[in-house]
Amino acid sequence: MRFFAFASLAASLLPFAHAGLSVDLGGHGGASVSIGHRRSPPRQSIADLYVASESPVAKAGLLANIGPDGSKSSGAKAGIVIASPSTVNPDYLYTWVRDSSLVFKVLIDQYTSGQDASVAARDLIDAFVSAEAILQQLPNPSGTVDAGGLGEPKFNINETAFTDSWGRPQRDGPALRATAIISYANWLIDHGNSSWVTKTLWPIIKLDLDYVSVNWNQSTYDLWEEVDSSSFFTTAVQHRALREGAALASSIGQSSVVSGYDDQADNLLCFMQSYWNPSEGYMTANTGGGRSGKDANTVITSIRTFDPAAGCDASTFQPCSDKALSNLKVYVDSFRSIYNINAGWQANAPVAVGRYPEDIYYDGNPWYLTTFAVAEQLYDALIVWKAQGSLTVSATSLAFFRQFQSGVQPGTYSASTPTYGTLVEAVASFADGFLTKNAEYTPAGGALSEQYNKTTGAQTSAADLTWSYAAALTAFAARGGFASPSWGAKGLKVPSVCKANPVPTVAVTFNLTGATTNSGEGVYITGSVDALKIWSTTDPVPLKLAGNTTWSVTVGIPASTIVQYKYLKLDNGTVTWESDPNNQITTPAGGNLTINDTWR
Ligand SMILES: *[C@@H]1O[C@H](CO)[C@@H](O)[C@H](O)[C@H]1NC(C)=O
Ligand SMILES: *[C@@H]1O[C@H](CO)[C@@H](O)[C@H](O)[C@H]1NC(C)=O
Ligand SMILES: *[C@@H]1O[C@H](CO)[C@@H](O)[C@H](O)[C@H]1NC(C)=O
Ligand SMILES: *[C@@H]1O[C@H](CO)[C@@H](O)[C@H](O)[C@H]1NC(C)=O
Ligand SMILES: *[C@@H]1O[C@H](CO)[C@@H](O)[C@H](O)[C@H]1NC(C)=O
Ligand SMILES: *[C@@H]1O[C@H](CO)[C@@H](O)[C@H](O)[C@H]1NC(C)=O
Ligand SMILES: *[C@@H]1O[C@H](CO)[C@@H](O)[C@H](O)[C@H]1NC(C)=O
Ligand SMILES: *[C@@H]1O[C@H](CO)[C@@H](O)[C@H](O)[C@H]1NC(C)=O
Ligand SMILES: *[C@@H]1O[C@H](CO)[C@@H](O)[C@H](O)[C@H]1NC(C)=O
Repeated sequence: MRFFAFASLAASLLPFAHAGLSVDLGGHGGASVSIGHRRSPPRQSIADLYVASESPVAKAGLLANIGPDGSKSSGAKAGIVIASPSTVNPDYLYTWVRDSSLVFKVLIDQYTSGQDASVAARDLIDAFVSAEAILQQLPNPSGTVDAGGLGEPKFNINETAFTDSWGRPQRDGPALRATAIISYANWLIDHGNSSWVTKTLWPIIKLDLDYVSVNWNQSTYDLWEEVDSSSFFTTAVQHRALREGAALASSIGQSSVVSGYDDQADNLLCFMQSYWNPSEGYMTANTGGGRSGKDANTVITSIRTFDPAAGCDASTFQPCSDKALSNLKVYVDSFRSIYNINAGWQANAPVAVGRYPEDIYYDGNPWYLTTFAVAEQLYDALIVWKAQGSLTVSATSLAFFRQFQSGVQPGTYSASTPTYGTLVEAVASFADGFLTKNAEYTPAGGALSEQYNKTTGAQTSAADLTWSYAAALTAFAARGGFASPSWGAKGLKVPSVCKANPVPTVAVTFNLTGATTNSGEGVYITGSVDALKIWSTTDPVPLKLAGNTTWSVTVGIPASTIVQYKYLKLDNGTVTWESDPNNQITTPAGGNLTINDTWR
């Protein structure tokens, strides 16, 4: 009852009913990898059935979550994407820049490729652009449009700022939004509408790209909104946005920004390489967070920065690159033993996967969108191998390929070789196996939540997650051989030395009155940024008396940054804080700032 109509079918055909193949990728027990023969004629696999039944459900589910007319998004302004209609446990009735941009990238690709060239689709895309232009301008807790505000992760669906505390800033949003709108802009240019691009789209795109260009080298919350450090997904999507942004700028005569964007893109490409863990063969998702770093972050990076023209380039982490395939195996394997529903399968079977193995959100469960992402990366890889007529096994990707042919050796196998045929069929079957996992845990009707229970398979967390539907659509499209247009990843050269991009600082003068001190006592300031010693009570920044009653200090603080701080007195190690709450300022983009405070 809980499962989709064909779940019983799935059960009867499992473990290896993939696309007419009999490649055994996951029997309970059983021996090593066995590669069978193509059945003739191929029967419809579970993956085929799932794609056929779930595609319309996913599209409808996605559209239901977009205002103003979406059936589940009442109250959302035009073009606003709600994350989910769920208002309690969890409350996701907000609009996230990341989710919205990923969702609209799907709709824009469908529109520009002719998969959905409807007037309604075009209208919705234009509404999205208008809505995002409004959100960009809203002053919010991350700042204002020209001072940090573009890093704000989420807004109310009536286009007002969300002001409660949150993991902010999140610096992937502007990059993803730029990528979505740039893909629309490129199509408009090709279809004789450059004036709309120059007049309407470019100012929006430029704000986001300028933000990325200036701020990429500062810490950020990751896409799961938990870790404040540097994050591979964020770095990679920033790289992509600046590359394609520079190309767009060049094509519409905005030459003044081109070299700046390209320079920072080079710096980002260089920085991207530093996340690689060579001894264990995976991309470390975040530089902070105290986890293994095995994370769907990286798989999602690979599919969202897929460029079909870039071959199997590892520096941009293309889906068929040896690094991305090695990473995929390490990531997938990390979920084999921690979810009960994955128990009992062979070590090379497709399994349900989640965000990262240490996840405790809702006890840590498989997610639809991460399991779809694995399938999509593999489908993307197949697109490129088929286009280039060969496949390369390297020392780095050997463990990945040996899941399918235990004796395979490093080398390049052309399409005419049996090894190529065996591996390509096995990878296709493996990919389908991940769709089949999601199919098994998709309830009747096809609604997709965020997660499904790792023990029972029942849906949990937010219902009708828009991103789950988007992830289904992109995985299905890739299975059908569709690749989004190229974005310029081909033939890039990684600089030999990585350059940082320190953000400009602003001279902030803190003047404090009303602080009376005993002899021997000093007045200090500390706060949320390095320049204020990150809440140190042992090494805070001292103020000096400037006049009889004003204490003062001038500190260089990154521009366009939210800073929380407090004054304190220190007397030989004894700390006296001023009373709550913390003070907060947003530094301007340039110039300087004088703050006049009174001790509380
Ligand atoms: C917008 O939505 C928020 C959150 O639901 C609500 O608090 C606020 O009053 C609304 N503002 C307007 C102008 O409707
Ligand atoms: C260009 O595209 C915009 C946005 O869809 C549209 O409003 C406008 O009519 C188009 N102009 C032309 C000349 O097609
Ligand atoms: C800034 O860039 C440098 C050079 O790539 C890198 O070492 C550093 O970790 C980066 N820091 C952040 C916060 O991005
Ligand atoms: C998953 O199912 C188990 C067993 O019924 C239950 O104890 C657990 O609370 C469920 N987890 C979630 C997040 O719903
Ligand atoms: C603030 O401090 C600076 C010196 O750091 C001083 O020049 C300025 O007059 C002070 N302002 C006030 C209002 O005391
Ligand atoms: C500081 O205090 C002294 C002694 O009370 C007084 O003469 C002087 O004018 C004061 N200076 C200022 C700037 O208030
Ligand atoms: C400061 O504190 C230390 C240890 O608490 C003490 O030994 C020392 O005498 C104190 N110094 C003064 C000047 O009070
Ligand atoms: C602050 O900026 C003003 C004008 O922008 C300038 O005149 C002044 O010298 C600056 N002060 C410092 C300390 O940089
Ligand atoms: C702080 O005081 C100085 C001197 O009185 C004044 O020029 C400046 O505008 C004040 N700054 C703020 C933020 O109130």
